[in-house]
Amino acid sequence: MTAPNIETIVSLSKRRGFVFPASDIYGGLGSSWDYGSLGVELANNIKQSWWRWLVHERDDIEGLDSSIIQNRNVWKYSGHETTFSDPLVDCRECKSRFRADKLEYPKISDDAETQKAFENTPIEQLIKDKKFPCPNCGAKNFTEPKQFNLMFSTTVGATSAEDDPSALAYLRPETAQGIFINFKNVLDTSRRKLPFGIAQIGKAFRNEVTPGNFIFRTREFEQMELEYFCRPEDAPAIHQEFIDSFQEWFASLGITPENIKLYEQSKEELSHYSDRTVDILYRFFPERENEDAQFDELMGLANRTNYDLKTHSKKPEDAEGKRLNPDSTEDLSYFDPTTNERFYPYCIEPSAGVNRTILAVLMDAYTEKTNDKGEKRVILKLKHNLAPIKVAVLPLAKNKPEIVAMAKDLKKQLLPTMRTVYDDTGGIGKLYARQDEIGTPFCVTVDHESLEDNAVTVRDRDTWEQERIKIADLKDYLQKRLEQ
Ligand code: GAP
Repeated sequence: MTAPNIETIVSLSKRRGFVFPASDIYGGLGSSWDYGSLGVELANNIKQSWWRWLVHERDDIEGLDSSIIQNRNVWKYSGHETTFSDPLVDCRECKSRFRADKLEYPKISDDAETQKAFENTPIEQLIKDKKFPCPNCGAKNFTEPKQFNLMFSTTVGATSAEDDPSALAYLRPETAQGIFINFKNVLDTSRRKLPFGIAQIGKAFRNEVTPGNFIFRTREFEQMELEYFCRPEDAPAIHQEFIDSFQEWFASLGITPENIKLYEQSKEELSHYSDRTVDILYRFFPERENEDAQFDELMGLANRTNYDLKTHSKKPEDAEGKRLNPDSTEDLSYFDPTTNERFYPYCIEPSAGVNRTILAVLMDAYTEKTNDKGEKRVILKLKHNLAPIKVAVLPLAKNKPEIVAMAKDLKKQLLPTMRTVYDDTGGIGKLYARQDEIGTPFCVTVDHESLEDNAVTVRDRDTWEQERIKIADLKDYLQKRLEQ
């Protein structure tokens, strides 16, 4: 079972402390979210899994943490200043705002010919001719599509005027460019040979026109990006390898393969730098009737060719011998000592959103179960390595000092090897229910008998089965179970 819809996760997140609406006490700020004590642990565990898998377990990838604010030229030459925009339309009647490229043809007639003719006309034309109805109010009165750049701008320096172009800077809309402009630094210091990759996790910012669906589309989010550099002829096969291995990585996070789908972008959809892009989609909207509409992008994997390294280099020239980039001071080409060739490497980019991965993991882990009393209980069946808390130690009688002391001591013993909490804020049934709902794999209960037999009860989150374990064996027992 997975969550029936995103709303279920919104409510669980707020109730249990995964994610809260940001600036809530001031009425919120459109689609901004804060991660609470459990949310931040889950996010860290996901990022750690990604980093370990790519940077630590492979021996061809280096890590990087570049600045969020870079020289404006980075975004000029990457193409973001001119092309990173969405076409916006406003309904003049109800004032709703839409992305023209995301509008869908509604049913306007029972007559098949009329409907077909409508759907064969580009939406932008229908908007111009005042023939396209607003999805909100039905009026056919949109403004003409206007390009809206998604980058957040700011000014750098205390004395700079708001409109001083030399002070203009942007918050990065992707972490990738920080990698490209550091290509030579990493290459020279790591002495790598192709193929090799540079990985980075960090915040990105986009002034999205239509943010929404909880943490699915927000203006501030986090990306896990790998730029993997290779010889041009090797790029297609490496691209395919990453498409396959990232599906396996999502499965290792507990995401059911049936909830994952691939989408091959058409030539018209490709970004200006991409030769081929395949998106991995997740079933974020299971409640939708149309099966295709249930899926949306979890991550993208692009073959960015040599676009970025070339565009940031000082060397390339146009037909008349004029430098294409007169501002760069470096050449980001690569010299292959085995073939004696100098060229701009191709780049394969698997780019995943941390927040969308959190949402997919939460939706997929969500399970409901009915107890003996017929009450519905929520169990978050998170993979053990992702669970924010691994073990909860619970005293059966919080008014018995010896039991409390023993439970607190157990917590201390377990803590260095597994995230353990002590909780005595309710009756045992309530405490178990709370830990199930936040995905804690094991509860350890200290009772009156524990004082006699030096043993505790270990309860399994998924089966609710209980086992009596000697305190002397507890750490090893839990460690083994957590590795499963
Ligand atoms: N460097 C390539 C790049 O940025 P993208 O498809 O625009 O490609 C990559 O973004 C991933 O970042 C997406 O698949 C998604 O997971 C995440 N992402 C993008 N925009 C987002 C937003 N507004 N809110 C949350 N996540 C977002």
